[in-house]
Amino acid sequence: MNFLSLIESKREGKTLAPGQIENFVRDFTVGKIPDYQMAAMLMAIYFRGLTTAETITLTLAMRDSGDVLKFPKDKRPLVDKHSTGGIGDKVSLPLAPLLACLGFRVPMISGRGLGITGGTLDKLDSIPGFKTLLPAGKIVEQVQKTGCVICGQTDRMVPADKKIYALRDVSGTVPSIPLITASILSKKLAESLDALVLDVKFGCAAFMPTRANARKLAKAMVALGNECGVNTRAILTDMNTPLGRAAGNWLEVKESVVCLETGRADLPVSQAAQQFSPTDVLELVLDCAAHLLVQTGKAKSLVAARKQAEDCLASGAPRRKWDEMLIAQGADLAAFNKKLVLDTTAPVVAELKVDKPGFVAKCDARLIGEIIRDLGGGRLTKESAINYDVGIDQIAKPGEHVRNSGVLCRVHAADSAQAKAAIARLKTAFEISAKRPGKTPLVAEVIQLNW
Ligand code: URA
Repeated sequence: MNFLSLIESKREGKTLAPGQIENFVRDFTVGKIPDYQMAAMLMAIYFRGLTTAETITLTLAMRDSGDVLKFPKDKRPLVDKHSTGGIGDKVSLPLAPLLACLGFRVPMISGRGLGITGGTLDKLDSIPGFKTLLPAGKIVEQVQKTGCVICGQTDRMVPADKKIYALRDVSGTVPSIPLITASILSKKLAESLDALVLDVKFGCAAFMPTRANARKLAKAMVALGNECGVNTRAILTDMNTPLGRAAGNWLEVKESVVCLETGRADLPVSQAAQQFSPTDVLELVLDCAAHLLVQTGKAKSLVAARKQAEDCLASGAPRRKWDEMLIAQGADLAAFNKKLVLDTTAPVVAELKVDKPGFVAKCDARLIGEIIRDLGGGRLTKESAINYDVGIDQIAKPGEHVRNSGVLCRVHAADSAQAKAAIARLKTAFEISAKRPGKTPLVAEVIQLNW
């Protein structure tokens, strides 16, 4: 194959043939195309775009660059959710056991965070003994037996994406809608799903800051997912404010358990934690579950589906399923439960208090994400080590009234100098107003076929 002529064709805005795309994906994956030529192709795609047919070919070629999970025949549909990432977004954690209890199989292959957005695997790594790296055989076995797994991609799954994404990251070609679509969907298609719900975030801490661009990406992914035989829907959600009241790896695991125990005074999470119940996380978890129930024909309407999901959560079964999933993935449940009742696992906790009473008008998710990363909770480079215990919790949300000297949030830090520095920066993350601000809907739009 003369790859140079393909780069030139794309540079001139021509359409590539399916065989040409399949060949270059295969050759790049096995090292037959040098990085500098692939980077030139990615830049040509960035400027010229890909047709829908080209994007489908690229996605399927990337999916087929490695192992595709194979599941035995079963009446339980295979489903998953993908989020484009945000601050405090721990929805996957309570959602997986809830979906398993609703009669789904959930092979949730997740990623790590880079920069300010947290990664599901990093959060799970804060659970004593929990294993996130599982071979494909074990992933399938656990999904069949337990109903859900949350783990990382094996080395043999979608290797083309790993190589292409690493190159995009250093060649200024990440924000390309066809490349993002192919990257995300190739990984989801390798899970052999029946249905997928995509949470595409917009706002100051989102990968796509404007709602218009988030909508464009969502429409491209919904169209392509359905073309590839997976019933796919997307919700556009607001990421100007952190999701929930806690952000930081361990604090988010703890909040996920609070979410699974909502309304259940008989379950073990402390009353203090229940007092900070994350209604927006719960909202999104139930919404994602409801869409998947409708998409797979397990519910006739979103209203009925929502009720089904709420009843299931209230039964306590998803909370028990969470423990079952932890045990299946090697967690030390006794150590986990001991850690769960601690108010903090960090050496220092400091409070940010308001200096005048009023309504929270703004809580800047981007700044909060940057502060947590700088406390050690996120990575500046792929090699950075993470401090799982640091983060911010008890976050006051927009629209809430805070009394004089009331707490706006707490910082969990490695030492008092870092806590002090974080508190100083956090003062600019919040805006307090005398008037209650207007409500911003969390789910702004639903994108489905025939929009
Ligand atoms: N997440 C991915 O997995 N791929 C992208 O291209 C962007 C976000």
